[in-house]
Amino acid sequence: MSVENLFEPLRLGAIQLRSRIVMAPMTRMRAGAGHAPTALNVEYYVQRASAGMIVTEGTAVSPQAQGFPNAPGIYTAAQIAGWRAIVEAVHARGGVIVLQIAHNGRNSHSSLLPDGVLPVAPSAVPPNIPAFTSESLPVPAEVPRALDAEEIPGIVAEFRQAAANAIEAGFDGIEIQAANGHLIEQFLENGVNLRADAYGGTKENRARLLFEIVAAVAAETGADRLGVRLSPFGRYAGIYDSNPLELFTYVVRELSARNIAYLHLIEARGSEIGLTDHLNNGTLNNAALFRPAFAGPLITAAAYTPESAAEALQLGYADAVAFGRSFVANPDLPERIRRNAPLTAFDRSTAYGGGAHGYTDYPTLAAGAGH
Ligand SMILES: Cc1cc2nc3c(=O)[nH]c(=O)nc-3n(C[C@H](O)[C@H](O)[C@H](O)COP(=O)(O)O)c2cc1C
Repeated sequence: MSVENLFEPLRLGAIQLRSRIVMAPMTRMRAGAGHAPTALNVEYYVQRASAGMIVTEGTAVSPQAQGFPNAPGIYTAAQIAGWRAIVEAVHARGGVIVLQIAHNGRNSHSSLLPDGVLPVAPSAVPPNIPAFTSESLPVPAEVPRALDAEEIPGIVAEFRQAAANAIEAGFDGIEIQAANGHLIEQFLENGVNLRADAYGGTKENRARLLFEIVAAVAAETGADRLGVRLSPFGRYAGIYDSNPLELFTYVVRELSARNIAYLHLIEARGSEIGLTDHLNNGTLNNAALFRPAFAGPLITAAAYTPESAAEALQLGYADAVAFGRSFVANPDLPERIRRNAPLTAFDRSTAYGGGAHGYTDYPTLAAGAGH
């Protein structure tokens, strides 16, 4: 099938894209001292500046929001300066880049947190996967500390400040990480949110944190520079809800009413975090399922090939497609798609942590190859 439709321009709110090929957000755990981006990180993103839009790796809104060793933040002057160097270099290549802001909540470990405090969560329910220490060693997950209701405005304020810092760094927009079992999704889903206060119980209460964060971030960026990522039916780290269809239909409708720039949905068919090639066949098509509930542009992600991406656009399921692992392994992915060139395979062993190897040394097509 023709992949030409992937190269049509697209507007996401106030953000103009030259193509519909988006780079998915990917944690690579290669930030420098003080969780600040480095020159190596600049090189990685610049290599991928030909994307229609880059969504950065999940970036912590505060020290307590951290969940991985050497993951970046956006809460210190050094971090803002590091990100500004990335944004300026991507813009110099004509690229577009939005910052994914995240709070890991219970998916963290005390060794990564200030003064060794426990990870926080809506309720004291641990994830069902190992945690990683500051030394990258897998250990059993800790039981998180349930947040007091009085602490929640502080978390909303952290997201707002992160958005202000991102604007200061020059980003084209913000993506709120409400997917993949992070803090916001921990609040959304009643398998792990057991609260009895205004942030638990009904779906409206469980979605309250998300919508408070959306309002706070929009106050800094404008709703037209704000995207939200969701992973309906995802089960990462043991997250689950008793009625995901009802919950996410409500959430998507409410996001639509707020006129955000875009909705970014991960398909449950693929792995939410891209760490297996196993496909859960027979799952619902989230983009097709939730599209009628969302009036604005929709980005779909997970396990797409160039052909299946073009087909998703043609069938009207989505307006753009995010590629994760294939953008890691193919810095010039749009050019390869355009030329129908072979794609380099993703090397799982170098996904997280380390240096340039598996990060900035994936090859581009030799200039003029085949001519
Ligand atoms: C190494 C790696 C890190 C990831 N980190 C994030 C992240 O920080 N935020 C996020 O929303 N998704 C993250 N993901 C999920 C990807 O954005 C994407 O949804 C997933 O890999 C499926 O797409 P793919 O099949 O094209 O790789 C990560 C995936 C990989 C492989």
